[in-house]
Amino acid sequence: MSDLPDESREPREIAELAELVRRETGSDLPAGRLGVLRDTAERRRRALGLADLEAYVAALAAGSLPGEWQRLATRLTIKESSFFRVPQQWERIRTKVLPELLHARAANRRLRCWSAACAAGEEPGTLALLLADAPALAGWDWSILATDLDVEALAEAGRGLYGERAIAGVPPPLRETWFRRRGSLWELDPRLRARIAYRPLNLARPPWLLPEEAFDLVLLRNVLIYFRPELQRLVVERVADRLAPEGWLFLGGSETLWRVQERLVAVDLGDCFAYRHEGAAPAAPRARGPARTARAANTAKARPADGPDRRPAAAPSPAPAALPVPGPHPPASAREQLAAAVRHLEADRLREAERETEAALALDPADPEAHVLAGLLCDLGGRADGAVAALRAALYLEPGLAQARLFLAGCLRRLGETAHAERQFREVVATLERGGGRRLPLLDGRLLPDLGETLRRARAALQSP
Ligand SMILES: C[S@@+](CC[C@H](N)C(=O)[O-])C[C@H]1O[C@@H](n2cnc3c(N)ncnc32)[C@H](O)[C@@H]1O
Repeated sequence: MSDLPDESREPREIAELAELVRRETGSDLPAGRLGVLRDTAERRRRALGLADLEAYVAALAAGSLPGEWQRLATRLTIKESSFFRVPQQWERIRTKVLPELLHARAANRRLRCWSAACAAGEEPGTLALLLADAPALAGWDWSILATDLDVEALAEAGRGLYGERAIAGVPPPLRETWFRRRGSLWELDPRLRARIAYRPLNLARPPWLLPEEAFDLVLLRNVLIYFRPELQRLVVERVADRLAPEGWLFLGGSETLWRVQERLVAVDLGDCFAYRHEGAAPAAPRARGPARTARAANTAKARPADGPDRRPAAAPSPAPAALPVPGPHPPASAREQLAAAVRHLEADRLREAERETEAALALDPADPEAHVLAGLLCDLGGRADGAVAALRAALYLEPGLAQARLFLAGCLRRLGETAHAERQFREVVATLERGGGRRLPLLDGRLLPDLGETLRRARAALQSP
């Protein structure tokens, strides 16, 4: 009935499953994520009608559950992303990397880019916006390969629909030109999506099926962090093999290749780093090794690289051709959308559940149950911080929600905030013992335990801290 994390020790099968996940996907799940792994495996076991977790893990290990790795990987990997995430990197790509590539590729006027862990397409979408907005690239043959382990995320990328939060970083002129409202979401212009090929690729499982042509720009952001050092080294080696001699590689804003490999060298772009082959056209002052890591670069005072810091007065981008705009969405109330989100979540359709929840929140941001559902989804997506924020929002709106408070306490405990967690568990017990506590009508007894079970769990958690 309940998907709340139990606070007890994980069974042996979960340790075995975590090891299988690491071998299959490269992701080394930290102890704090084992509860999510257990809940996910338990839901999948039920959906498949298997007797117990042991049977599920054994069948997975034996490869006798077709498509199951895909489903599991989708639920375990972290898809946090947004357009223009780490804006200084995009600014350097615009002002420094593209002008250099334009020069290097002037003869054949082709650019090949790769977003190697593209999530739901926010990153390749951002790159497409920059390339489409560069007047000097007009008439060029440019394209982006966008790959990810998660086929559901790729399908979502192909649909190109994003919530307000995902596109908050898009500069208004680009938003006006390249996004169209679709109900509560925004659609990235299909002409940009047509420049992006979305393909599944597991970085942890070579060989990689990639086009032969080397890449001029590779984005490998916020994925190496989930891998162990040996796998990081292997992945970077292979990426280096696919990077053109004049190519550029970007990692996540807080990632570095220091101590990972020596083949590519760090190029200091002032307020961020990129990596290039040794001997690539001298570009910016270079930093190598421990003297200045990418992490340090993030906190360093921003200073311009030697490219122009301001957008040159450019000819305006060509106006987009008129696009067919579908009629308005049928009106749905926030509660209806929330009920639909709950149904999706119960059927393990997380992305749809997220979409409906976001829509419900857009219609009624003061509904505490919508915030609780957002918290559940964040937690399932491995974003415990986001879950805590959403649950706090729910409790701010309605402090008597004991079920939400129990869930918050569990998240805090997993984040190591033991004292705060304990306070919340005590509050749950106090509320329910005095007969208080308002039920969450849509979630009660379905995705959250009922009030009796909530009290039992809170008491048990206080007895076994
Ligand atoms: C935090 S997101 C990063 C998205 C984007 N690169 C960014 O920085 O905004 C991590 C992505 O890595 C993907 N991923 C995890 N393990 C992977 C693997 N072994 N191969 C390919 N992609 C993987 C996940 O599915 C997820 O979409």
